[in-house]
Amino acid sequence: MELPRGVEHSWEMFNILIRPPWFLPEKTAINESAFLRRREFLSALGLGGAGLAAAGVMDVLGAEEAGKESTVAAKSRPLYPAPRNPRYNPGWTLTDENVAARYNNFYEFSMVKNQVHQLTGKFVIDPWKIEISGLVEKPFEIDAHELIREMPLEDRVYRFRCVEAWSMVVPWTGFQLSKLIEKAKPKAEAKFVRFETFNRPDQAPGMKGSNYPFPYFEGLRMDEAMHPLTLIATGIFGKPMPKQHGAPVRLIVPWKYGYKSIKSIVKIEFLANQPKTFWEVLAADEYPFESNVNPSIPHPRWLQSTERVIDTGDRIRTLPYNGYGDQVAKLYSKV
Ligand code: MTE
Repeated sequence: MELPRGVEHSWEMFNILIRPPWFLPEKTAINESAFLRRREFLSALGLGGAGLAAAGVMDVLGAEEAGKESTVAAKSRPLYPAPRNPRYNPGWTLTDENVAARYNNFYEFSMVKNQVHQLTGKFVIDPWKIEISGLVEKPFEIDAHELIREMPLEDRVYRFRCVEAWSMVVPWTGFQLSKLIEKAKPKAEAKFVRFETFNRPDQAPGMKGSNYPFPYFEGLRMDEAMHPLTLIATGIFGKPMPKQHGAPVRLIVPWKYGYKSIKSIVKIEFLANQPKTFWEVLAADEYPFESNVNPSIPHPRWLQSTERVIDTGDRIRTLPYNGYGDQVAKLYSKV
């Protein structure tokens, strides 16, 4: 397969781009006994179980610098859990919180899902500037934590389907992206929204020496961005967002493959033309701009007709638009 110029073949590339991503080498499997020893150590300090949960913004697992996050936790804790929006709480069985917290795609930290949560210790999420710019009447900059306190937060249970054919059902906390967009007053020419993640190789070990085109960037059409299902998520499982899930704020677009849901956003820009996206630059035939979940279009290297639920291992049928067709199919009907 042909890779973009400047991108070299490496074992990781081979894993991610040539082989299905779940074929990870044996040596990358989680070291369960080290994990359990850590839990014992934390509980001896009185920080296990409920103590960990109460710490809120601290990573569910593996917060090496918990002390440094205490001001963030203190500021955010009263906001969680946010009220559940009954419209988006269909009574589905939730994925186990701890399984979700150590099965992450966050390439800035690691390409190995169960290592991401262990490598976020140096990642500073407070203060956190977000720039809103481009084709808007009111460009502005705001600290993410101020924004989180300003916006009306709610809890929504969503299905989440990765292009790698795994899935989960989790309660996100957040607010509709449309509410933030309205504050910026986009101009009529603004037809697309581009999102960008931080660029800090000193805090994110996966960025150092990587051939990937970091910082990670994504995009949506304006009507997709304005859709009521599209969230800026600030938390998960009733707590502030753990670093490995994309603290302090990330995007959630539940009818698209998971890579569209960009983490740890620093910039939201309004554009007239369709922007390139991170994965599109790497392999446009595998990860196109639109990327709606579609069980009838296989990925070039694997089927998309079913998905594996990450905590139970059950294999279930994938639904068109990830089950949100009644709400979003009309965005794509050509009349
Ligand atoms: N955002 C950034 N900045 N970097 C990433 O590597 N991975 C994407 C998406 N957002 C990614 C990202 C992919 S491929 C998926 S499936 C989801 O995040 C995973 O989200 P989760 O780890 O919270 O389950």
